[in-house]
Amino acid sequence: MRNTLAFQDKLDRQQNILVVDDSNSVRYAMEKHLSQAGFAVTLAEDGEEGLDRALEGDFDLVITDIDMPRMDGFELCAKLKGEFKTSGIPIIILSTRDSDEHVERGFRVGADAYLAKSADIRENIERIKDIVRARNFLTGSRVLVVDDSSSIRLFLRVGLTENGFTVKTACNGREALDVLDEFKPDLIITDLMMPEVDGFELCRSLKKTEFASVPVVVMSTLSDKAIMRRLMREGAASCLIKPFTVPQLSMVIEEIFSSNFRLLLEEKERLQMEHRLTLSAIASLVQALEARDSLTRGHSERVALIAVGIGEELEFKPAELERLLLIGRLHDLGKIGVRDDVLLKKDRLNTREYEHIKDHSSVVADILRPIESLHDILEVTTSHHERWDGKGYPDGLAGEAIPLKARIISVADVYEAVTSERPYRDSMPPGVALEIIREERGKQLCPTCVDAFMRWFEKTGGEAKLPEDYRNH
Ligand SMILES: [Fe+2]
Repeated sequence: MRNTLAFQDKLDRQQNILVVDDSNSVRYAMEKHLSQAGFAVTLAEDGEEGLDRALEGDFDLVITDIDMPRMDGFELCAKLKGEFKTSGIPIIILSTRDSDEHVERGFRVGADAYLAKSADIRENIERIKDIVRARNFLTGSRVLVVDDSSSIRLFLRVGLTENGFTVKTACNGREALDVLDEFKPDLIITDLMMPEVDGFELCRSLKKTEFASVPVVVMSTLSDKAIMRRLMREGAASCLIKPFTVPQLSMVIEEIFSSNFRLLLEEKERLQMEHRLTLSAIASLVQALEARDSLTRGHSERVALIAVGIGEELEFKPAELERLLLIGRLHDLGKIGVRDDVLLKKDRLNTREYEHIKDHSSVVADILRPIESLHDILEVTTSHHERWDGKGYPDGLAGEAIPLKARIISVADVYEAVTSERPYRDSMPPGVALEIIREERGKQLCPTCVDAFMRWFEKTGGEAKLPEDYRNH
């Protein structure tokens, strides 16, 4: 969905949401979180009140529960879809009832989405934002109308523009192909019979361009039915029989976009699920490692939190901070391959043992390599024992050749290691750790990261904790 981001701006306009739920706590939680997310929120306690509010207000979205006194969510949906004023408002059913039967009934009465009430309301808010975004995407979409009849072009231009679409017209397939690059349509509506390049050829030519995935709606007269079937096989998204009305056309367009968007949401959901599974698998591995060695228990977590603090000082974006948190948590995972007699040794390690423990920074990449979504961080975890002066391991990288995130982990690692108890010594006070870090600035440790660490330390007194937005991670 190339243009989805282009419509992000539209999200800045405040959207009005009507929340219908008989539970006080749900209503107020939704009000709180949706207002925080920038929406204007109106509340109603049941379907009847919801319907009244919807009819007197001007809403961009209705979110409704199912089980409510006086009028339930299904009835409310059906009534909203049946009223001229409210029929176009998208409806999300948000309910703890999520059997197939309920979901199906929800869609049948006109709901646009069905969300299972999640224990964490912010998850629902994210989905709601997706749906609002889809809605904005729809009304801001760019439609290219291709027809040799000027009256049809005019009819479609006026009708679609009134419905919030951005419209461009072309007299035939050739002209349409010429304006693709400049107009970047989200949808093409084309006549079939046209001079020069007809609708059929336009469909075929489109497939060879970067606009191959743009849905095409073909318009024609009844007599062309056989050809239209052929066109559908060729990849046209839908056919419209002339004459048709603008609401009919809008419905076809809406259906195409919403099914595209549903696919997109499903894909996103699948990826999120995969992400969650990966994270919990990693958490188990880290726990398995730390179970072997009680003294370093919590080490990775604390390193991760300090690293995020340094990342914040370096103005990392949220996605990068999240990555840093993950890297911190699993940077020492390779120690799972270190023998007990070395990992748990109370005395200083001899050279051979030290060489064995050094392998851990490379082993982590071997463990994580099968997980494709983690490939970008393998290099970082491998490099967390490299030194700024080039005297580290495993590759003896120096300076900026060491990935920045690995340099951050090194600083966090030193602070955490010095201030924690080790098999061969007691913990040391933060002041000592600061002194060591200052001393190693430009030697073992990257100066920029040390400076950022110092700023973080100044603000927090060295107390590593997860920022507010990360409570779920
Ligand atoms: Fe390490």
